[in-house]
Amino acid sequence: MPFSTAVASCPFKIGHTPLTACQVRIGDLTHELLVKEERCNEFGSVKDRVAWYILSKTIEKIGPVKSVVDASSGNYGNALACICQRLGIGATIVSSASISAHNAAQIKGAGARLVIAEPKPGETSNAARMRVAGEIAEKDGSVFLDQYSNPLNPAAHQNWTAPELFAAGPFDAVFMTSSSGGTSRGFADYKKAHPGHTQLCLVEPESSCAFLDSPSGCTDKLKIPAFGSQRRSSFAGMKPDPGMIRMDEAATLAAFTLLHEHQLSKVGLSSVGVILGALDWLSRQDTPSRVACICADGDERYLDEIQSRYIPAVGQQAYEAARARLAPVIAGMRLVGPVQQTAKAAAQ
Ligand SMILES: Cc1ncc(COP(=O)(O)O)c(C=O)c1O
Repeated sequence: MPFSTAVASCPFKIGHTPLTACQVRIGDLTHELLVKEERCNEFGSVKDRVAWYILSKTIEKIGPVKSVVDASSGNYGNALACICQRLGIGATIVSSASISAHNAAQIKGAGARLVIAEPKPGETSNAARMRVAGEIAEKDGSVFLDQYSNPLNPAAHQNWTAPELFAAGPFDAVFMTSSSGGTSRGFADYKKAHPGHTQLCLVEPESSCAFLDSPSGCTDKLKIPAFGSQRRSSFAGMKPDPGMIRMDEAATLAAFTLLHEHQLSKVGLSSVGVILGALDWLSRQDTPSRVACICADGDERYLDEIQSRYIPAVGQQAYEAARARLAPVIAGMRLVGPVQQTAKAAAQ
């Protein structure tokens, strides 16, 4: 394990996030599903790790910086803005119109500049964000952290999130989604260095093509922020290809509201998609299994816009049909509580 000063010297409450166990009854089998609660990081998401890791490693390399700029779908920008505010560094976050109201408010509340990038004809929103962030860096001299191409993004997960999770292993499978592809590539690189039997599975909506071609040709708009990506990740190319489970967004929204009604979880939308992917995988197993889900953020980022934005985006009928189908599945889940994580994780 390479010693990482970025991890060891982090002055914020980032990392050591809880792992919460659920029992899942499917047919005659009882499985264990573990939720890595990245919402418990100080600024509320898994991207806290990436923002701190990239910023601190950059400062370590080039010395103090006055201002930074980067592109983000929302959570990374929120974390970076909050960290920069505490450190007295100016921050510009370039996002898209799809940013959640919560993240937009947090970024502005932290005193950062929020720029919404308009895609040119034929350009994805993700590519537009990267282009505009690069233009701003050239114009005002801010340091462009470039999370979407920066190898420090997957390295944050290879050296921090993954060892922390695997210290609580073994797992039969680990599930996550991709936006920049940083988490998935970081976990794949960790697995390559620490071979074992655990399967890595990406859970994404049909039109995502972050790592593998989309059956629908990547043309439909994504409806949930950071649940998949319409741009091939700069970190693609890991071998072997990750396992892929396609999970539709109507089912994800239905499971989100059901999990809340049953008080089973407070994770965000992409995380619920990941949990559904894990349930789908478990339903195909013939022995009791133990699996973990990387749950990127919390429900507070979505609750205000569930009725006004997300359910209309998938369609009320599709949402209701998914709720009827998933109600017995969610009713088969039982919250057990936090798993004791070992001191080994703390050392890494
Ligand atoms: C809600 C949410 N889920 C999942 C991800 C995926 O993370 P990555 O960018 O590492 O692929 C992100 C990243 O921004 C996110 O904000």
